[in-house]
Amino acid sequence: MENRDFFGRFFQIELFGGSHSEEIGTIIKGVPEDIKLDLKFIQNELNRRRPAQNNLSSQRNEPDKFHFTEGIKNETTTGEKIRIVIPNIDVRSQDYSQFEEVYRPSHIEYPARLRYGSEINLKGGGRFSGRLTAPIVAAGAIAKIILKKQGINIAGYTSQIGSIIDENNYSVNQIQERVESNAVRGIDSELTNNMIDLIENVIKQEDSVGGVVTIQIENYPPGLGDPWFHSLESDLASAILSIPSTRGIEFGTGFKAATMLGSEHNDPYILENGKISTKSNNCGGIIDGISIGTPIIFKVPIKPTASIGKIQKTLNFKTKQMVDLTIKGRHDPCIVPRVLIAIEAISAIVLVDHLLISKTQNELK
Ligand SMILES: Cc1cc2nc3c(=O)[nH]c(=O)nc-3n(C[C@H](O)[C@H](O)[C@H](O)COP(=O)(O)O)c2cc1C
Repeated sequence: MENRDFFGRFFQIELFGGSHSEEIGTIIKGVPEDIKLDLKFIQNELNRRRPAQNNLSSQRNEPDKFHFTEGIKNETTTGEKIRIVIPNIDVRSQDYSQFEEVYRPSHIEYPARLRYGSEINLKGGGRFSGRLTAPIVAAGAIAKIILKKQGINIAGYTSQIGSIIDENNYSVNQIQERVESNAVRGIDSELTNNMIDLIENVIKQEDSVGGVVTIQIENYPPGLGDPWFHSLESDLASAILSIPSTRGIEFGTGFKAATMLGSEHNDPYILENGKISTKSNNCGGIIDGISIGTPIIFKVPIKPTASIGKIQKTLNFKTKQMVDLTIKGRHDPCIVPRVLIAIEAISAIVLVDHLLISKTQNELK
């Protein structure tokens, strides 16, 4: 399968490898030279996304130890393209042989074979697998390092699992203080416990459940984003919807805006400590595709994991008979807390891309 997949205009990423190949990785172009990288931070970001961290996630045990093969000298960027490699260690292709005839519902086998033909290797999801979010997280960690130098902070948390919703507002600080304290990456203790109970219940029924990730970005400079096809919203949406299992995106009040009056939804301008701001932030920090300096806030719904142990009636593509399918193997009953890390990462990449478009490389060192 020819690789035509890359993303970004200045800070550009491309992925290679597949779920069961020897290694996966990313090639990143456009990173300014002379940026000192905190390798521990990058590894820590990869560890946050790793499977087998608790009983709520897949037991595929990948250490996700990364190394650079190009573009870095003395832990500092050279300005050349950066190549990051992550070996695949814990591959069990036999778990996937049953899906050659009985395609998994809401999974990749049917659409991928329509697009690329029957010979395509889909063991473990192949190139389509959520595993490819590991190199995205590594590239996103570099983007986060660049953002941090500019005082820009990004943090995400699980704001909903099934019908349990956390409707509170939190600052990036509050999110960062609490988010790693529990397996679902929730913030409110009581709601978090309810979310964990719900997932444990779903595991007992050999089923899965989805949820919502909320992302908040503070101190992003006002005035970034282009009109039309590279507005900040459209670039974020395009990047985030490229992450497997995401089902949409809502900026600010999102779909609720459709039920509000203009007088309720408008964000009047105010002067706050000598700085232009807005009284409310219903727009979620972006108007007409351009950042206005208020926190950028968006929500991303994540679907329930497609692989479930519960019996599903589905078609055998060879015999054309309806059969009972039970999916064994190693799967997350709820992928929300792991997808969250990939969404933070790809968002950071978009934000850096727009910074690079508007600032000179020297300004970002
Ligand atoms: C980090 C991550 C881990 C995932 N793990 C699983 C999994 O264990 N089982 C599964 O069925 N889907 C998993 N997925 C989701 C599938 O990749 C995805 O649902 C499938 O490709 C189709 O999704 P789509 O229709 O949203 O593109 C994972 C996704 C991500 C981002």
